[in-house]
Amino acid sequence: MGLSCGNPTAIAALTPGQVVLDLGSGGGFDCFLAGPKVGPTGRVIGVDMTPDMLAKARRNIASYRQRTGLNNVEFRLGEIEHLPVADNTVDVVISNCVINLSPDKPQVWREIARVLKPGGKAAVSDLALLRPLPQSVRQMVEALVGCIAGAIMIEEYRAIIEAAGLSEIELRLKPEYVASLTEFQDPLYRQIAEALPAGTTPADFITSIEVTARKTA
Ligand SMILES: C[S@@+](CC[C@H](N)C(=O)[O-])C[C@H]1O[C@@H](n2cnc3c(N)ncnc32)[C@H](O)[C@@H]1O
Repeated sequence: MGLSCGNPTAIAALTPGQVVLDLGSGGGFDCFLAGPKVGPTGRVIGVDMTPDMLAKARRNIASYRQRTGLNNVEFRLGEIEHLPVADNTVDVVISNCVINLSPDKPQVWREIARVLKPGGKAAVSDLALLRPLPQSVRQMVEALVGCIAGAIMIEEYRAIIEAAGLSEIELRLKPEYVASLTEFQDPLYRQIAEALPAGTTPADFITSIEVTARKTA
């Protein structure tokens, strides 16, 4: 159902009536958490490019409706680089461990800026690099699937958001997420750890981050 890099605290701050957009919604986990927060007058849209994930998320809508009595979550097929969402229509963009996978992150952030209403907010969880990864690790399929190979340096992350025209940018590091995956011998992370230089761990290279930014009102 979910493969995330930390539940965005953004969901906790949602308020009734807001329109929320989840980039790379997967099985819909965060959308179903956001739905009750925005209530019957709000709306949650999940976008994902993988038809199987979309089908899974749509199947999950029935039990969500039964549990909450709400009909405010929908899922759209699409790429986060070309969002199937109108300009200036979203209050809060959330995303959980997806933007690192995009081959065109500046385009993703331009799209976020386009769909946000003036004054709207992006609040995403992602992974970013503390120091460059060895080339051999960047080429590992396991490292891409583990949301590592596509990650960029933190300074570059900030520069991309700035270039997209958003302001009030904050990046908070949450190193405990990667450390816990390594400690718990997550199979993907075990393979990645084995490919790193002796004496280093994934947490020396990569961290979970929470990013917030706002579109100027
Ligand atoms: C690591 S999973 C995260 C899913 C979900 N956010 C969660 O926390 O459980 C990545 C998801 O992003 C989707 N995805 C990856 N790249 C994408 C892109 N460029 N456009 C749309 N969806 C994308 C994948 O299909 C997958 O469902």
